[in-house]
Amino acid sequence: MAQPYRTAYHFQPLKNWMNDPNGPMIYKGIYHLFYQYNPGSALWGNLHWGHSTSTDLINWTIHPPALLPSDPYDINGCWSGSATILQDGTPAMLYTGRDSQDTQLQNLAVPKDPSDPYLVEWIKSPSNPIMTPNEEEKELFRDPSTAWLGPDGIWRVIVGNEREHNGTALLYKSKNFIHWTETERPLHWSNESTMWECPDFFPVSIDSEKGLDTAVIFPGIKHVLKNSAIRSWVDYYTIGTYDHHNDIYTPDEGFVDNEYSGLRLDYGRYYAAKSFFDSAKNRRIIIAWVNESTSPEIDIIKGWSGLQTFPREIWLDRAGKQLVQWPIEEIETLRLNQVEIQNITLEAGSKREISSVTGAQADVEISFSIPLAVLEQAEVLESNSTNPQEIANQSGSSTNTGVGPFGLLVLASNNIEEYTAVFFRIFKQNDKFVVLMGCDQKRSSLGLEYDKTNYGAFLDIDPVTEKLSLRTLIDHSIVESFGGGGKACITTRAYPTLAINDNAHIFVFNNGSQHVEVSSLNAWSLKQAQIN
Ligand code: FRU
Repeated sequence: MAQPYRTAYHFQPLKNWMNDPNGPMIYKGIYHLFYQYNPGSALWGNLHWGHSTSTDLINWTIHPPALLPSDPYDINGCWSGSATILQDGTPAMLYTGRDSQDTQLQNLAVPKDPSDPYLVEWIKSPSNPIMTPNEEEKELFRDPSTAWLGPDGIWRVIVGNEREHNGTALLYKSKNFIHWTETERPLHWSNESTMWECPDFFPVSIDSEKGLDTAVIFPGIKHVLKNSAIRSWVDYYTIGTYDHHNDIYTPDEGFVDNEYSGLRLDYGRYYAAKSFFDSAKNRRIIIAWVNESTSPEIDIIKGWSGLQTFPREIWLDRAGKQLVQWPIEEIETLRLNQVEIQNITLEAGSKREISSVTGAQADVEISFSIPLAVLEQAEVLESNSTNPQEIANQSGSSTNTGVGPFGLLVLASNNIEEYTAVFFRIFKQNDKFVVLMGCDQKRSSLGLEYDKTNYGAFLDIDPVTEKLSLRTLIDHSIVESFGGGGKACITTRAYPTLAINDNAHIFVFNNGSQHVEVSSLNAWSLKQAQIN
C-alpha cells in the first residue's frame, strides 16, 4: 500500500498506535525514547511502553516494548510516566498503571541490567503500586513527572490530578524512591483549568540558553510548570518561582494560569510534551505527541496513528516573558542542496516558488523585514479582539487588505489547489503593532476529511525594530513552524492528495495589499532518517 503520509525524519513506530512520549533520557551516551504504544492496533488501547534508542535523536533503533500490562496494578494499561536518574547514575521509571477496575496507580520499574546502555529489559518493583489515589480521584491520578532530589536528600515528584474541579499537581515525597507520601499541600493548582495530565516541572536559567538538571536550585533560575489540560487539549505553562523549603510553586506576576489564555508550548496540534536534561550537551530537550487529524477509519487503513515532534531545545527567552524552542542542531546532518535567496521584494499578491528542494522533506528559514511606511498601512485590530486562533480562523491566509498575510505555502500542489499556509499578519491595536502568526489548513487536503480549524498565536516581536523570522520543517504529513526564533510554535498535520512526494512544492507568498521584503531565505532538502 502507498504510504504518502509516513514521515521521513519524525519518529514513528513501523506501525500501530502511538501517543505520549514517556521517560525520554540519555543514559551511557544513548538517548532513550519510550512512548504510549498499542502493539495490536492503529487505535488507542492496551497501552505498552514502546522503546527506541538513538545516538543522535534522529536515527532510531526500535526495541521490544519495555513495559507491558502484566500485573494487577497495570493489567489495563501501562500509562505515561517519566525517567529519573538516581544518585548512583542508574535510571528509574515512574509510570501509571491502570488496574482491572480502571483505578490509576503509580508504579516503579528499573533496568534489569544497568550495564547495558540500551536497557532493553525492565523489572517492575515488587513494592508496586507505590502511590494510590483517593477513592473519589481513582481516574484522576496519573503521569508522574521526573523526580528531583531536594537539598534535604528527599525525593519529590508531581502527579497529574483534578481536585475539587481544579487542575492540580499533587506532590509526593520519598527517602528511598519506593515509599512515597503525599504532602498536605499540592505543589500547585489552578481553578482556571480542570484535569492536568503529564505535568512537567523544570528549572530554566534566566541568562543562558543552556539547560539545567531537574534537581538544580540556585539563584538565577526560574521554574516552569507545564500541564496538558485535558478539557482544552493544550499544553500550557507558567513561569514562576519554586520555594523548595515549603515545596510551593507560584507563577510570577503577569503569567496567566488559565488553560485557554495561558502561554502554550505550541499553538497547533500538540499534546503531552515531556522534557529531559541532556547532560551530554547541557541542553533541555522537549518532545510531544502530534496526533492525526483524520478519522479512525483512515488510521486503520494506514495502519498507524501518531507522531512525535522533531526534538526541540527549550530555554527561557532573554526578556523572561516566554520559553523559546528550536529544532535540535542534529537536524543539520540531514540537510542537502541549500537554496539561498537574499533581499527580494515580495509585491502585494505575489508568489515565488522555492524550487530545487524536496517539497515533502524540507527545512526552510526566512526572515522578513517590513518597511515603516508599510507598517503604517496595517489594519486596525479592535481592542476586544484578543483571541489569535479566532482571528486566524476568520481571516485565514487568502487575499486581504493590510500587511499580510505573507509567509510560506507548503505541501502545495503544482497549481496551488492544495496547500498548507504558515503566515504572518500585522495589525495595529491601541497604537502598538501586533503580529499574528497563523496556520491555515482549510485547503491542506482536497480528498480527505480532517480537522480544518486554523491555528493562531500572537508573536512577541516588534516589527519596527526586529526582523520577522519563520522556520518551517516539512515532513510529508506534518508541518512544524517556529516564529520569531521560536517564541511561538505551531504544529499541524496535513494529508495532501496531489501535493505528495515529488509533487509537493513550497512557495513564499504575500496575499496582503502591501509589499514586504524578504531579507534572507535559506532552504534545504532533508534526507530520510533511519528508523528500524
Ligand atoms: C495523555 C494521556 C495520559 C495517560 C495516557 C494514556 O495523552 O491521556 O494522561 O497516561 O495518555 O495513554
